[in-house]
Amino acid sequence: MISKASAPGKVILFGEHFVVYGVKAILCAINKRITVTAEEISERKISIISNIGKLELEPNEPISEITSPLKPFYYLANKIIQDKNSGIKIQVESEIPLGVGLGSSSACCVAGAAAISKLFGNNSKEEILKLAIEAEKTIFQNTSGADCTVCTFGGLMEYDKEKGFSKIESEPNFHLVIANSNVEHSTEKVVAEVRKFKESNEEEFSKLCSEESALVENVLKLLKENDIKGLGEKVTQNQEFLETIGISNDKLRDMVQIGKASSYGSKITGAGGGGCIFALTDESNLENTIKGFKDKNFECFSVKIDFKGLDTF
Ligand code: MEV
Repeated sequence: MISKASAPGKVILFGEHFVVYGVKAILCAINKRITVTAEEISERKISIISNIGKLELEPNEPISEITSPLKPFYYLANKIIQDKNSGIKIQVESEIPLGVGLGSSSACCVAGAAAISKLFGNNSKEEILKLAIEAEKTIFQNTSGADCTVCTFGGLMEYDKEKGFSKIESEPNFHLVIANSNVEHSTEKVVAEVRKFKESNEEEFSKLCSEESALVENVLKLLKENDIKGLGEKVTQNQEFLETIGISNDKLRDMVQIGKASSYGSKITGAGGGGCIFALTDESNLENTIKGFKDKNFECFSVKIDFKGLDTF
């Protein structure tokens, strides 16, 4: 028996970092996917093959001793074959650049949970999400679960650390041009630096949180109206807040300026310090925005919102 599932990556549109301090963030799933194929095999082993390497182990190895980034797949397969006599072979194919804040690990967990569990029965999306978050916690203990949720259900989502997730039902027709700085970043480290900034600038940080909250409320209205130019202004404004809290650098600033020159607005997405930025466009300025990045030798590609989320087949 073989089963397959795919899940989209994600972008944080507004509110990264401030979300850690209780401000609402807005995320969307993107039309770049991870596809996982799972096969039940007679040999009692778990084998995972992907473009970032291989992992082959017997069941019941202690999770804490596994260092491979493929650990979430092992966790899922091991959990699901506990009461079986067989093994599992997993194959992972990715269209999402890895480790640059585009949700590759969450998409792996969601598609992995769906493909592996489907070998032995049918689970609801809610059940798969629960499994995926458990698997993600083997690599990010403190995950909020927001990324796995948007990768499961697709579309646009607002996320509040206390109140949880809620889907935004509008379907704005924009393109995001994503440019990769190819600078590695550690989310944990950047989040810790922002905390230091907050602790030395309590008043300024609290004002920024209020401004970000107001911005996000405005964004929710603009999304309903499909006002892409208005959204672009909010993207630019959000980038200024991110500059103020110190997560930008010369390379990212340069990329944001290139994006801004031909799009409606451009900003860092995710932790910053490296990783990716995006530029917001529609059909009219998409090609020029891509050209702007390519002319300066930046790796870039365009994405749209993925409204499908998890898909099994
Ligand atoms: C990282 O993708 C997003 C941050 O807001 C951290 C977090 O929400 O846990 C920087």
